[in-house]
Amino acid sequence: MLISAPFGRDAASVSRLLAGHDYDTSVCAAVGDLAAALDDRTGVVLVTEEALSGGLEPLRTALAAQPAWSDIPFILLASRREADGPLNERARLRLTEILANTIVLERPIGTASLLSAIRSAMRSRQRQFEMRDRLRDLAEGEERLRLATGAADIGTWEYDPESEILIYDTRCRALFGLPADAAVTYQGSFVAGLHEEDRERALAAVGRSLDPGGDGYYDIEYRTVGLQDGIVRWVNARGRTIRSETGRARFLGTVVDISARKQAEAALAASQAALRREGEQLDQLNRTLEQKVAERTAELEAEMASRSHAEAALRQSQKMEAVGQLTGGIAHDFNNMLTGVIGAMDIMKRRLANGRTDDLERFMDAAAASAQRAAALTARLLAFSRRQSLDTKPTDVNALAQSLDDLLRRSIRENIALDFALAPDLPLAVTDANQLESAILNLTINARDAMPDGGQLTIETNIVEFDAAYAAVKPDIEPGRYVMIAVADTGVGMTPEVLEKVFEPFFSTKPTGQGTGLGLSMVYGFARQSGGQVRIHSRPGEGTSVKIYLPIAEQSPVATTPDAPVMVIDGHGQTVLLVEDDQSVRLLVRDVLEELRYVTIEASDADTALPILQSDQHIDLMVSDVGLPGMNGRQLAEVARAHRPDLPILFVTGYAENAAIRAGFLGTNMAMITKPFAIEALSAKIAEMVPSDADPVQPDPKIPAE
Ligand SMILES: Nc1ncnc2c1ncn2[C@@H]1O[C@H](COP(=O)(O)OP(=O)(O)OP(=O)(O)O)[C@@H](O)[C@H]1O
Ligand SMILES: [Mg+2]
Repeated sequence: MLISAPFGRDAASVSRLLAGHDYDTSVCAAVGDLAAALDDRTGVVLVTEEALSGGLEPLRTALAAQPAWSDIPFILLASRREADGPLNERARLRLTEILANTIVLERPIGTASLLSAIRSAMRSRQRQFEMRDRLRDLAEGEERLRLATGAADIGTWEYDPESEILIYDTRCRALFGLPADAAVTYQGSFVAGLHEEDRERALAAVGRSLDPGGDGYYDIEYRTVGLQDGIVRWVNARGRTIRSETGRARFLGTVVDISARKQAEAALAASQAALRREGEQLDQLNRTLEQKVAERTAELEAEMASRSHAEAALRQSQKMEAVGQLTGGIAHDFNNMLTGVIGAMDIMKRRLANGRTDDLERFMDAAAASAQRAAALTARLLAFSRRQSLDTKPTDVNALAQSLDDLLRRSIRENIALDFALAPDLPLAVTDANQLESAILNLTINARDAMPDGGQLTIETNIVEFDAAYAAVKPDIEPGRYVMIAVADTGVGMTPEVLEKVFEPFFSTKPTGQGTGLGLSMVYGFARQSGGQVRIHSRPGEGTSVKIYLPIAEQSPVATTPDAPVMVIDGHGQTVLLVEDDQSVRLLVRDVLEELRYVTIEASDADTALPILQSDQHIDLMVSDVGLPGMNGRQLAEVARAHRPDLPILFVTGYAENAAIRAGFLGTNMAMITKPFAIEALSAKIAEMVPSDADPVQPDPKIPAE
């Protein structure tokens, strides 16, 4: 209690009295002291009228500075003296001006009344203190809430549906794109700030919350479009309608910015959608890819089918072209030669009929020459068809090439230089020496024709090895070591188109009559039949090199006996069994044999020959065609040898289907002669085989075979 009384006695006696009733008192001498002493702990102020006679200003200031809850009760002890009346009245008024809470007590006053007034003032002050504590608790709670909502970025709002007053805190305003000091209204801020697409849904949620029949809860996510900044934000609003006992509603709650979460969700959804889309596209792509592959495969198959069809057609037409060329070529050349033979024979026949025998020799020679040319032609054809009878032996190719030196030089012109580049220590090649000679000659003539203005001709030999890798790429030759003979020129060369056709029989770029187109065909057939190969390297203007590869021999060379001088050797009545199916050939050979003074037994095939062979008939030699109907010549020889182990046998063959390589075909005391043959050749062979010292047997009468 603060006591202020200017007259020391009053203050002291009241202070004593109150101390006796457990009040804590403090005496202030003047209004200034009183003002300074006023604070939150002050309970009641007891003041006498006289104390207020001075200025009240300090007191007014002190009271104005009190907290809102504080309204310190004053007890004013008034005086009833008439003289002081107006003054007191003024002081009392002045005091009530600044104090709402004043009790005026008239003096003199009894102790009981004073104490009762003090008690009641103290109770009122006590209620103020309680209010103060409650306010403090409330403020603390609010502060906690504020801090918590601030920390969680939660905005708060409240809406009174009756008055339509809307309260937004700063964060709530911010979520509607409004500055902190903006005024807000339900329509102008909340409704207007909602995103058009979410507005209906949000207002429906508000309506549900305000519905007295519902649970009052409100929980919704909506978008706002910033009223001043235009920014779209995602908001989660939660709240509740609370009703007082009178039924008055308060709708309040919080808002949180969930834009980041929504963005993340949207991004996630977008990426999932993108992933799904990609997956679908991939699926689609796979499907189209599969389909494309299938389509393309079908296309390719169709293409391949049509291509192989076209290729087959092309091959067929090429084959027909080649056959046509071949047939035409043979027909043409044979016609020429037959014309020579038939013409000469006609003239001879006519002259003989007229008894003119002079000059017959000339026509006979002409006929023979034509026939020889025909024979040479067939020989080359047979060579190409690999049906010639090769007499293969280990051969020294270097020696063979050198022996040709003279012949080759005579075949070329002076403006062509001939060089040999022969590999030393060249192994022997398995080949038919005669055929190889003729191949080299053919190539030399080709080279000569390619160098009309002269040039260089080189004949080269070497060892070449084809390994498995090479043979895998070029399967037309077996891997292994080969002897190579190359004939190279510096002539006009060949275009790829010509190169492609040079091995075809009768392919020639030379004017009619100058080339038959059989040279390279023969070389090719010969090399292939020998188990080798031919390769040509040529470019227009850069010359040509033709290389023949021949297999290397494992044996040493067979000493070749020099060809016996050609002359006719007569027999002396020895018996020859002649087996030949072609009647004209048989007649011819029989005539020749008889001319040579042999006795001939004829048979047209093996069936006719066999009984003769099995009989006791003396036979010195069997001359047999190889290609017989039924049992062939070689098989017949087998049977003959079963009966007559020492019987010499001479085969005559036109082409060697089964007698390609003589070495493997012939047995002991067997020999071969190829058609057409000269009488000299036949007589020499027979003389070689039939022992001349054998006792001539009496010629048997001819046994007709047919
Ligand atoms: N050394 C070469 N240089 C340029 N072209 C060549 C050479 N050798 C051959 N040819 C070409 O190849 C074609 C065929 O040659 P091939 O030896 O088979 O027949 P030919 O020489 O025309 O006639 P044949 O040799 O039968 O008398 C020749 O017409 C020529 O066009
Ligand atoms: Mg030629």
